[in-house]
Parts: sequence; C-alpha cells; structure tokens
Amino acid sequence: MSQGTVSAADSRDTVAAYLQQHETKGLLRFITCGSVDDGKSTLIGRLLHDTKLLLDDQLSALESDSRRHGTQGEDIDFALLVDGLSAEREQGITIDVAYRFFGTDKRKFIVADCPGHEQYTRNMVTGASTADLAIVLVDARKGLLTQTHRHSYIVSLLGIRHVVLAVNKMDLVDYDPKIFDDIVAGYRELAGQLGISEVTCIPLSALKGDNMLEASPNTPWYDGPSLLQHLETVDASREAGASGFRLPVQWVNRPNQDFRGFSGTVVAAPAAVGEEIVVVPSGQRSKITRIVTADGDLQCAVPGQAVTFTLADEIDASRGDVIAAASNPAEAADQFAAHLIWMGDQPLLPGRPYWLKIGTRTVGAQITEIKHKIDVNTQDELAAKSLELNEVAYCNLYLDQPVAFEKYADNRDLGAFILIDRQSNGTVAAGTIEFALRRAGNIHWQHVDVDKSARARIKHQTPRCLWFTGLSGSGKSTIANLVEKRLLAMGHHTYILDGDNVRHGLNKDLGFTDEDRVENIRRVAEVAKLMVDAGLVVLVSFISPFRAERRMAREMFATGEFIEVFVDTPLEVAEERDVKGLYAKARAGTLRNFTGIDSPYERPEHPEIVMETTKLDADILAHQLVDKILDGRG
Ligand code: ADX
Repeated sequence: MSQGTVSAADSRDTVAAYLQQHETKGLLRFITCGSVDDGKSTLIGRLLHDTKLLLDDQLSALESDSRRHGTQGEDIDFALLVDGLSAEREQGITIDVAYRFFGTDKRKFIVADCPGHEQYTRNMVTGASTADLAIVLVDARKGLLTQTHRHSYIVSLLGIRHVVLAVNKMDLVDYDPKIFDDIVAGYRELAGQLGISEVTCIPLSALKGDNMLEASPNTPWYDGPSLLQHLETVDASREAGASGFRLPVQWVNRPNQDFRGFSGTVVAAPAAVGEEIVVVPSGQRSKITRIVTADGDLQCAVPGQAVTFTLADEIDASRGDVIAAASNPAEAADQFAAHLIWMGDQPLLPGRPYWLKIGTRTVGAQITEIKHKIDVNTQDELAAKSLELNEVAYCNLYLDQPVAFEKYADNRDLGAFILIDRQSNGTVAAGTIEFALRRAGNIHWQHVDVDKSARARIKHQTPRCLWFTGLSGSGKSTIANLVEKRLLAMGHHTYILDGDNVRHGLNKDLGFTDEDRVENIRRVAEVAKLMVDAGLVVLVSFISPFRAERRMAREMFATGEFIEVFVDTPLEVAEERDVKGLYAKARAGTLRNFTGIDSPYERPEHPEIVMETTKLDADILAHQLVDKILDGRG
C-alpha cells in the first residue's frame, strides 16, 4: 500500500474528477485520532496490509495523472488523491498530515493520519475537514484520556457524524468485557455532551488482529461488526436535498458573444434544468436552461459534479456569488458567530483585518469579539483577548460585505471558511459558522446633504490624513506640532490626534499589549476618517507599530488622502534622547511591552514620506512636508 503527503502544488481538476468517479463506487474518508502509544500506526498498518487489495486500475490512472500534473516527478503523487482544505493548500500552509488509501471490493478508503504530538489541532483539523468518519483510539489499559476528550471535541466541532471508538490492546486486558463496557459507558457520556450522535464501539487488538477484519473468537461477548466490516458498511452519505442545491460560482465562462455560463461545483443537493434559481447575495432570479459538462449536457447535476449553468436571463453574477435553488436559497450576511481554530504562528488579534475565504468568495474580515476560548482538553470556556496557535474560540466576526453562507451544521461547504493573513497570505485559521448576527441589517446609512467636498470647499482646502508613525521619542509629535502650526498660519483647518493625548480620553481603557494597540489604531483611524470627512487636515501621531493596522487605516481613505509619514529615528538615538524616561524604565524591566525593546516595531514598506531625523532638523522636515503636500494646491 502506499501513502502520500499533501503538497502545496495542486491539480484540483484531476483530483475532483478522480474523487467524483470513485465517490459513486463508495468512497469513505476517515481520520484516525490517537497516538503511537495507542497503537495507531499498527492499526493503520494492519488495515492497509490485510486488505491486500492494490487498486490496480486506480493506480495506473493516478500514475499517468501524476506524470501530467504531479509534483513528484515520475513517482506517484498521492496528494492528488486528497481533496483536503484545497483553499488552504493554495495558501501554501505546511501541514503534517499523511493520507493513505486502500480499498476492498466494497469500498475505497482515504485515511488521514495526523501526527499526535505537535501542532495537533492544526493537523487534525486539516485531516478532518473532509472526513466522514473518525476512529478515536484508546488503549484498553488506560481508558479515556485527556487526548480522547481533545480528539472528540475537534471531531464534533468539525461536524463528523460517525465516530468509531476503537478500544485497542484488548489482548493486554485479557479481553475483559467489563473493561470494555466501562470505557464504552464513559465514552457515550462524553459523546452525548459533545453532540456526537453515532458512536460504534469496537474491542480490538490491532496487533493481534482481533475484530480488525473479522469477528474475533477472543471476544465472544461482542456481537457487533469488525472494524473493517463497519467501515465497509457504515452509511456515510450526507443528508442531501434538505436545503436545495447551491453552486458557488468559480468563474464566468464566456467563450464568445453567444454563450455565457456560470461554472462551479454543485453542493448540497441535485440541480435540474428548468429549476428556478436566485443569486446570493444580489437576489437576482432566473431559471437554469442548460447544465453543461465536458462530457455533454445533463438534465440533472448531483453534488460534487463540476458543471456550467446557463440561465434564461441576463444575470450579473461573478466569482464568489452563489447560485441557489430559489425554493430554498442560501442566506447572506456580513456578521457571524463562529468557531475559529487558530493555525497562525502569530496570534489572532481582534480588530485586525484579515481576508476571509468562504466558498469561492474572498472578503475582508475582522474578529470583533472573542466570546471565549475553549480548552480543547476539558471543553472549559475561558476568557481571552487573543488566540495562539492551535487554540479554539467562539467569536463574532464582521465582514466588509455580505456573503452567501450556511450554518456549518447544515452544509460543510458553505459553512466553513478560512482566514488569511493579509501580509503573508498564509492561512491563519479555519472557521465554522454557527449563525448570522443580524444587527447590522437594522442599521442603515443615513444620507446627509452636506458632504465632505462641501465642507472642504468653505475651508478652501483638500482634506487629508497625515499619518506619523515611528518609535516612541522619534520626534513624531514634535514634527506634527510644527506642521500644524505652519498649516494654521497659512489658513488651514487642522487637528492633531496624538497617541498620548487620545490615550487620556477615548482610548484610556487601552494598554500596550498587541491586541490593545490594534484597537488603539482602529479607533484613531475611525476618528481621523470622521475628521477628514469634516473637511479637516488631520495629523495622526501614533507609534502605530504594526503594518497591518497602518494598512487598514490607509484603506479607510480615498486615494491620495492618506499620507504615511515615517519618522525614521534609529532606536539608539530615540533611546539616547529618552525625553520621557520610558526607555530607561523599559531597560530596567519596570515597563513592559515597550516598543523597540520588548514589543516590535514594523518599519513601513512604502511610506509616502520618510523623515530622517538624524540628518535634518525638525523644522526643516516640517517645512518640507508642508511644501510637498500643498504642492501649489492649497
Ligand atoms: S501605539 O503603539 O498604540 O500606537 P501610542 O502612540 O498610542 O502607541 O502611544 C505611545 C505613547 O505611549 C508613547 O509615546 C509613550 O509615551 C507611551 N507609552 C507608555 N507605555 C508604552 C509602551 N509600553 N510602549 C510604547 N509606548 C508607551
């Protein structure tokens, strides 16, 4: 038997076609949860070895596909078999999950095998994201352990409906039914708490082969199926049809004037020619006129099929929209309560902008609130201000535009999302939607007749935001002060928002942790935006140490309105000046999280203006700035 690991390179069409072909032959994807100590490798090894069925036809098909699309040269690229979090793989995250596959004459299997130790949650989430069933392994001598709780919690979080509790090493407890029964009773209670409804408990010895393939003579008291019998027969079909079909639009296919089709993969339920559709979120309606595939037209497409719809009306839908059955459409919303599994090396910071990818749509998103994090070992709910790698939390999210969605419990395809870091483009979280928060829908934008340009006109100026960033003691406030004086002397209407001052009022509840700094900048950027809207020239003088938040601020303004001024003073120089004596305190250890000492400062990459305070003095720099921004325009 064979195995492969996920590679970032990817040939989705081939994989999709392969899986679609074998879906109909009965494909079961499952994940094994447990550690080497529990006998996981033995269990997988035995399943692979004892089934002894090399899938010759599949292997040769795969071999030729690998040569065409794979990343392994002449070797077979088994990653092609794996459908995993494909969006995540596009983002190039490194995951340590091995996928193995095997088959019997009844079914084909893909096993996701996640290492039990480091980064467990991230790996397990990746492996489990498409699994139909999970095997939770326990050692009969040890019973339920903390890790059993952790594995089961993640299984329930990811909506895997079928769990096999594999009570392994029964040979080492003399096949004692009492021990088995006690473990089963304990596990059923846990599964009940976690809402896992279908649990099959099997006494095993992976090493000796008891109840692996056939009923073991050593457990005459057990009358359930062997592990393989169960895997071959369990009904893993997902409930279809309950919600109506959805087609997340992958691309608009427009080869010529006469043809316009919407391509994507059907999910949730079959779609038929003639069916009424609605585009979510725009709400446009039409009817399916054709379902086109590479192998000719269909009358009806089933979930998992890649198709192109043509519609009766000229409809404006694009990548990321969802075409849904009009009788039972997907909803749209821009605020959600969701579970997040943090996979980023940098912590999650509420208020920081991320990209959110759901279905085929990518939008801007922020975590507005971490309601609580969850101890994956005990399911205890804990207060949290940020999230670290492998932590799970229940959060509120805000998106910058509405998206089509479904509760994860109803539809894994449209209820799951990933978050992407905007700087590194890496995947930082997987999420599952619990429900939409509708508050935003009840708040409408109130139109006012006097607008920014009218306010600016009577002030005879172009409103702007001059954003000064730099270390504490770099000279930001000194220069901003000189700039404001000069602008005022020239008759401009200005205002300075200075970090120290704003922290006396609006932001007095905030300290200097990363998450507080994110919120600090978010608020001041909002205020600056209001002031620019009022027609003012606003000078913001905040350390604003993180690129992500400076970028967020920039994106709140019109082109040319935001001018990032990097007051570039080397740390040694700022520390040497130490006007407020804070560097001394930070060095002495009495002041924590001090920028430049034990809290980072991320230098701007493309500021409009760089001020080297060691080369020119503040007065000259202020003059130059005013000359540059006014540039004859006033
Ligand atoms: S920011 O990082 O969140 O943008 P902000 O500009 O509002 O910082 O506030 C920085 C000012 O707070 C500094 O000029 C300094 O006077 C004071 N301060 C007090 N503690 C710290 C700290 N730990 N790190 C940086 N500045 C601090």
